[in-house]
Amino acid sequence: MSARFSDAWLEELRARLSIEEIVSEYVRLKPKGHRCWGLCPFHNEKTPSFSVDTQTQLFYCFGCHKGGTVIQFVMEMERLDFQEAVKLLAERAHLPLPAEAKEKGAALRPDERERIYNANVAAARFFHATLWTDEGAQGLSYLYKRGLSDADIRRFGLGFAPRGWDGTLRHLAGEGFDQAILERAGLVVRREGGAYDMFRGRVIFPIINAQGKVLGFGGRALGEAQPKYLNTADTPVFNKRQGLYALNFVKKERGVGRLVLVEGYMDAVSLRKHGVQGVVATLGTALTEEQARLMKRYAPEVWISYDGDAAGQKAALRALDILAPTGLKARVIDYPEGMDPDEFIRARGAAGFEALKKYDAAEYRMLRARDGLDLATQEGTTQYALRCCQILRGVQNPVEMENHLRRLVAETGYDREILLQQIGVSAPAREERPRALRPRGSTGENASAAERALLTLLSEGRIPAQTVDPGDFDAGPLRDCAAWLIEGKSVNAFLERLDDEARARVLPALNYQPLPESRDEALKMAEDALNAIRGARRAGEVERLQAQAATADAEERRRIYEKIEKLY
Ligand code: UTP
Ligand code: MN
Repeated sequence: MSARFSDAWLEELRARLSIEEIVSEYVRLKPKGHRCWGLCPFHNEKTPSFSVDTQTQLFYCFGCHKGGTVIQFVMEMERLDFQEAVKLLAERAHLPLPAEAKEKGAALRPDERERIYNANVAAARFFHATLWTDEGAQGLSYLYKRGLSDADIRRFGLGFAPRGWDGTLRHLAGEGFDQAILERAGLVVRREGGAYDMFRGRVIFPIINAQGKVLGFGGRALGEAQPKYLNTADTPVFNKRQGLYALNFVKKERGVGRLVLVEGYMDAVSLRKHGVQGVVATLGTALTEEQARLMKRYAPEVWISYDGDAAGQKAALRALDILAPTGLKARVIDYPEGMDPDEFIRARGAAGFEALKKYDAAEYRMLRARDGLDLATQEGTTQYALRCCQILRGVQNPVEMENHLRRLVAETGYDREILLQQIGVSAPAREERPRALRPRGSTGENASAAERALLTLLSEGRIPAQTVDPGDFDAGPLRDCAAWLIEGKSVNAFLERLDDEARARVLPALNYQPLPESRDEALKMAEDALNAIRGARRAGEVERLQAQAATADAEERRRIYEKIEKLY
């Protein structure tokens, strides 16, 4: 994860930052002991269970168990990936990025992206202002006709690009922007010596990312002019395959649980206007894997909400294919009578939207499998059953499989065993063997109190490293962490190497409470913990040997008893 930056460089970065200071920009903290406490920004609470450890420079919430390093805090709050969070913090710390991390942007002057953002914001303001002038009157009345109020228009920063050839260019040049930067931003196009505005006589939808930067624009033609929508071409800050429209709103909608993915800017605006949260739109291209990964940062599930016509249905199936390997759970809305989300919500409102069925992936594929078939005929039913069996091959979860199978039996009248044979699983899931039980005390939350106390004492430097041996911990991330700390390496660097699951296991063991004040008491606590761990291990070993002895012959049994004695 941290591969692009060396440990030494990251260490330098962390040394220049104070986690307390950075967290304080989001959470009001009060010091108590060597931790500071506040209300957790990641879940709702009334009494503070979120804390920052000023010594280890880690944060942890005792309520929702989120935690990690300062970089991980910024990743979480700002919805950034590791690289992006590091870059943001490096800028703040005035630490130049190591050469290899610059890679992509290397050809750009360091401030070019910034200058493009500035040009885009200025353009967005200009378009918005124009909407309220005579020049924008047609755009404004178009938006009113589409059911939007002045407040909606302001909320989404909608605008109008003047009709002339270079109104935007002249305005922005007047504000001091070079023509070159306006071209780089995709606002101005140069042809045969002349330069003219990219957007002319169009209603403008600014595309803003989660950090509030204006990346580009979508421009809708009034009336039947072609193309209906014109989008900013790819620029150093804008890529249609990577961004999403309305993501700037989602950042504040923590806990929304699922996103709603639409294809049209207008659909996104309209659903949101009627109170649906978490709505985002693609930018005029089919859904990409990058966009799927981006969405996954905001919610574990997405509702595909495309037009109810044949084109929308086909696009929904394609989106399911894209989403399947990403681990982002997908459901699909099938709007009645070929409606699109905008038409639907205007006709039926938010309650109508809530009441719509959200098909799971296989269910939706099965729904589409009927298209063009007549289930009143044997031939149609057979075709349908075959298509569905093909679809069900992709279903892993046995409970879901059972549900789909029952429905298919009811719909087609085929025998369940026949269908299972066709799917290619004989007796599904039933013979699954019980999972091997986890060895006692092996993982974070399940780890014994003794293990957790010991690792916390170690990571906080309350006991000398040589007091502990990695072997005192069961194999797994706790043992790895102990080994890392005993080598004198940073707990921050360790946490940044872990995947989410391993991190979730280690964090409770880095935050054992309460710890004693004095050094002597800390040592005593460590000693007690070690005795408990080693004692429990010995007891387990004795138990195992005694079980062996029970079935051994006399000679063997004598040897086992000798072993047991040595353990005491
Ligand atoms: P739609 O035509 O369904 O958009 O295209 P919409 O939002 O429903 O349009 P209206 O205003 O209500 O008629 C869906 C999306 O496809 C992209 C745009 O991103 C649009 O929002 N698109 C469409 C283009 O990029 N170019 C086009 O010419 C048409
Ligand atoms: Mn549409």
